[in-house]
Amino acid sequence: MKSRSFIPLSVPEIRGNEWKYVRECLDTGWVSSVGPFVNRFEKDVADYVGAKHAVATVNGTAALHIALQVTGVQAGDEVLVSTLTFIAPANAIRYVGAWPIFIDAEPRYWQMDVEKAAHFLEKGCRWKNGVLRNRKTGRRVRAILPVHVLGHPVDMKPLLALARKYKLVVIEDATEGLGAEYRGRKIGSLGDIGCFSFNGNKILTTGGGGMIVTDNARWAERAKHLTTQAKSDPDEYIHDEIGYNYRLTNLQAAMGCAQMEQLDLYVAKKRAIAARYARALSGIEGIEVMREAPWAKSIFWMYTVLIHRRAFGHSTREWMRHLARKGIQTRPLWQPLHKSPAHRPAFAICPVAEKLYRDGLSLPCSVGLDFKAQSKVISQFC
Ligand SMILES: Cc1ncc(COP(=O)(O)O)c(C=O)c1O
Repeated sequence: MKSRSFIPLSVPEIRGNEWKYVRECLDTGWVSSVGPFVNRFEKDVADYVGAKHAVATVNGTAALHIALQVTGVQAGDEVLVSTLTFIAPANAIRYVGAWPIFIDAEPRYWQMDVEKAAHFLEKGCRWKNGVLRNRKTGRRVRAILPVHVLGHPVDMKPLLALARKYKLVVIEDATEGLGAEYRGRKIGSLGDIGCFSFNGNKILTTGGGGMIVTDNARWAERAKHLTTQAKSDPDEYIHDEIGYNYRLTNLQAAMGCAQMEQLDLYVAKKRAIAARYARALSGIEGIEVMREAPWAKSIFWMYTVLIHRRAFGHSTREWMRHLARKGIQTRPLWQPLHKSPAHRPAFAICPVAEKLYRDGLSLPCSVGLDFKAQSKVISQFC
């Protein structure tokens, strides 16, 4: 047990109808992967992000795995993906036997650098018999998988233009950004297909869970089929391809429905926390606060600052240890995936992501973070 004064990085906010809806599942016996809350949760998320279809999954990684499959990414294909991200999207690319091409982050908003993606496509690829191939590997380049990291959108307009030019499928990893907007539209609904996660540290949690959203009815239907073991006959145990047991349970979906009722409030709270951090920390020598692009509405899922060691006097890791001694939990950003032992050998030059990894520190930013706790975090920097 942590002491009462411990300030965690990010914990769930459960104060709505969660108990009531979960109880309904327990009372009716609808606890497993079929039930009214699964359908309702899918509809709620689809309506919220402005997509025609949604398919619930056991987690965000499973959502990505299935999204890659239904959009036709095949073994031996290549997929452009952000290098600065949690590892799940790159792993999902490997699950289908495809290969990630890691793209650097841009320095302002820390998202996939679309110009660098364009440079790779222009210089590193060529068309052969109507198929785009990597000049070095000869592999087909099939998709682009931008990750909206930390709840801020990727600059999607040039990315979508690029995808059109090179005939790439766009799979959005919006797992960290439910509620974020790009030019007034919810992320996840901008590309061909989008994925969300509802694990414990996300803005909306079902304990564990995920969702695929798309306007493509055929893909949605196949996603539902694949996530339910690809059973092709409702009565007989006949399966027409290799499927997965990836369906979300009604119990978890019940929690999701209750959380959806609070989502706008949660987004507002996250944004208020971010605004206060920005006001308090932006004047401090050696601290660079998170920015929000003029075309973006970020949900500031994980509020992060960059610590410039020379000017601030401490490195990110030193400061993380200092804050831990004060009972404040923080964490660095992810090791860029082109450096990950799990994805070796990966040849990519991504200096911005490496710098962000060295300097980035995520601060406590639970939806329920109170004024006093945030003041304690801020006071450490001042
Ligand atoms: C960018 C990103 N993609 C995918 C995932 C995977 O989601 P899950 O943990 O629900 O499998 C996560 C988070 O957990 C994530 O941060």
